[in-house]
Amino acid sequence: MTDQPLRLTLRRPDDWHLHLRTGAMLKAVLPFSARQMGRAIVMPNLVPPVTDMARAETYRREIVENLPAGSGFRPLMTAYLTDHTDPDDLERGFRAGLFTAVKLYPQHATTNSAHGVTSIAHVHPVLERMQAIGMPLLIHGEVTDQDVDIFDREAVFIDRVLTPLLRNFPELRVVLEHATTEEAVVFVRQNGPSGRIGCTITAHHLMINRSSIFAGGIRPHLYCLPIAKREKHRLALRRAATSGEPWFFLGTDSAPHPIGAKETACGCAGIFTAPSAIELYAQVFDEEGALANLEAFASLNGPAFYRLPPNEDRITLERSGHIVPDVLDVDGKDAVLPFRSGERLDWRVVD
Ligand code: DOR
Ligand code: ZN
Repeated sequence: MTDQPLRLTLRRPDDWHLHLRTGAMLKAVLPFSARQMGRAIVMPNLVPPVTDMARAETYRREIVENLPAGSGFRPLMTAYLTDHTDPDDLERGFRAGLFTAVKLYPQHATTNSAHGVTSIAHVHPVLERMQAIGMPLLIHGEVTDQDVDIFDREAVFIDRVLTPLLRNFPELRVVLEHATTEEAVVFVRQNGPSGRIGCTITAHHLMINRSSIFAGGIRPHLYCLPIAKREKHRLALRRAATSGEPWFFLGTDSAPHPIGAKETACGCAGIFTAPSAIELYAQVFDEEGALANLEAFASLNGPAFYRLPPNEDRITLERSGHIVPDVLDVDGKDAVLPFRSGERLDWRVVD
């Protein structure tokens, strides 16, 4: 018997769905992702949104300039799709390696989506071009009709929007982002074998259900979109993520907001998981007895979908315990609260 803690070495993971923001917030949160992740798909929902090559180049430069010295982290940029997106600009950006993908927010679906797409019909020419050049479409999959219950918006989107979209664009490559329902899992499994559907799953949707948001009182830091669903959906997501199936991969949707913007009468959606992202996923995979599939989910399936090589370097996790960092100061005025702040997780990254 040895008392060495158990260790697990993986190819360095990537985060296929990340909000980094700009300015002081970017400076505060970027080091956490840069420490763990090789690459990240960076969401374009800034104010104003990243809608074209010029804005993406400016944003990419701001990220790179704020990386810790010696970091190998690579931001993969996305374009925010609007009713007015220019297909030529997207194609130029994709061919130049600036854009990795395009993000579709239905208008008013979530934070900073006011410029989102009002109807898929308005973006048909753009989708045709993306289909022709193999540029992936990343989808926030929720309908926005206020008469659809908030807990049903993803399942209704799959029926009303996503299914016809895949039929109308049979070669378009699509990622259903931050899946939260059993319906999403079933849909991705049905379409996965075509090779053109991927699906990201967040750590928080593997850990909380809708009751968690109201446990003992209202918990604004557990409010995100799509909102967490019933327990049966969380369990379906855990089975999917830990299955090793190639269409499911890591995307934290880590979405920092100042504490004041969360703890208020009308709080913002978003959960900040980046400081302990891989530790949170490791916890779930360990609880499910599936640590052997963590590398596929975190480090292999995403690159395979995006037709990129997996990272060459490795990270090592050790079962010696990790305390999730405390409140993080942003600029002396604002601060952000990491998910599970102050709590102990079983795995930690060995530096
Ligand atoms: O909870 C969320 N926060 N969901 C999103 O889709 C956007 C994100 C954000 O930007 O804060
Ligand atoms: Zn997001």
